[in-house]
Amino acid sequence: MSTAIDLPYVHSGKVRDIYAAADDRLLMVTSDRISAFDVVMDEPIPHKGRVLTAMSAFWFDLLADVVPGHLVSTDPADAPGTDGADDLAGRTMVCHRAEMLPIECIVRGYITGSAWKEYRTHGTMHGSPLPEGLLEADRLPEPVFTPSTKADEGHDVNISFEEAVDLVGADLAEQARAVSLECYQRGADWAAERGIIIADTKFELGLVDGELVLADEVLTPDSSRFWPADLWSPGATPPSFDKQPVRDFLDGLDWDKQPPPPSLPDEVVSATSARYIEAYERITGRSFADWPGTGGA
Ligand SMILES: Nc1ncnc2c1ncn2[C@@H]1O[C@H](COP(=O)(O)OP(=O)(O)OP(=O)(O)O)[C@@H](O)[C@H]1O
Ligand SMILES: [Mg+2]
Repeated sequence: MSTAIDLPYVHSGKVRDIYAAADDRLLMVTSDRISAFDVVMDEPIPHKGRVLTAMSAFWFDLLADVVPGHLVSTDPADAPGTDGADDLAGRTMVCHRAEMLPIECIVRGYITGSAWKEYRTHGTMHGSPLPEGLLEADRLPEPVFTPSTKADEGHDVNISFEEAVDLVGADLAEQARAVSLECYQRGADWAAERGIIIADTKFELGLVDGELVLADEVLTPDSSRFWPADLWSPGATPPSFDKQPVRDFLDGLDWDKQPPPPSLPDEVVSATSARYIEAYERITGRSFADWPGTGGA
C-alpha cells in the first residue's frame, strides 16, 4: 500500500494500520500482510486485506442481533483521509473507537493447537478438566469459552475463566462469555452448512459508551482455524483452509520461527491468495469480484 493517509496515525498491529478519525472513530486499514508463527512475512498476499474486511463485514451483519459491532462503514467513499485511493478501496473500516477488554475471547469447538498440547500432558484445557480419550482435532462435547491474555509482545497466555474474572470483573467476563459462545455457534453452524469447520476463533470485545461491542475482525481465517470439513478426521489436525500453502512451505525449511522470515515463492503467495478468496466466497455465497477494489478479480 503506497497511499499516504491524511489522518493522525495511532498504531500498527501485525496486519492492521489504525488511524484516528473524527467523532471517536477509528479508520482501520487491513493490509495484505500475513504472519505465521507470529512472524510477519515479507511478501504481501494479494487481496488478503480485502477478504478479511469483506468477511468481517458479512459477520457483523449476521451477528448484529447477538451483539452490536464496532463497524460503521466499509464504503471507500466513507473513509476519511484516503481521497478515494484505489489501493485502499475495500480494505478500510471506519469503526467506533472502543475501550478494548484486556482479554482475547477465544471459543473452541474442537481441540487443537495449544489446547491440545495442554490436554495431552495434563488432561485439562485452560486449567479445566475435559473427558478422557479425546483425540487431536476432536470435536469438544460443547464449545468452550477459553480466554487468553492480550500480550503486547510475544505470545498470548491461555487463562482460566476465573483469571478472566480477575482481569475484567465477573459481570463483563460473563457477558463476554455468553456473547462469544453465541457468536461462535452461529458462525460455526453457518460455515458447517458450507463445508467449512470453524474449529476455534478469537473475538475481541470492547466497550463503546459503556456497552459491550464486537470489535476488530470477526470469524476470519486470521482470527480462526478454518478446516475443510471433508478433510477432518480426529487423530490429526486437518490442513488449514487458507494458510496451508504457507505452512507447508515453511515446514519444509529449516527455519527457527524467529525473524527474519524466509521469503515466500510466488506460487505459495498466489495459492494462498486464492484460498483466502475461496474461503470468502464459500462462506458468504458472494462473488469477491463485487467487493470494492478487486477490479473484478
Ligand atoms: N473498535 C476498536 N477500538 C479500539 N481498538 C480496536 C478496535 N478494534 C480493534 N482494535 C485493536 O486494533 C488492533 C488491530 O490490529 P491487528 O489485528 O493488526 O493487531 P494484532 O496483530 O492482532 O496485534 P495487536 O493486537 O497486539 O496489535 C488490535 O490491537 C485490536 O485490539
Ligand atoms: Mg488482530
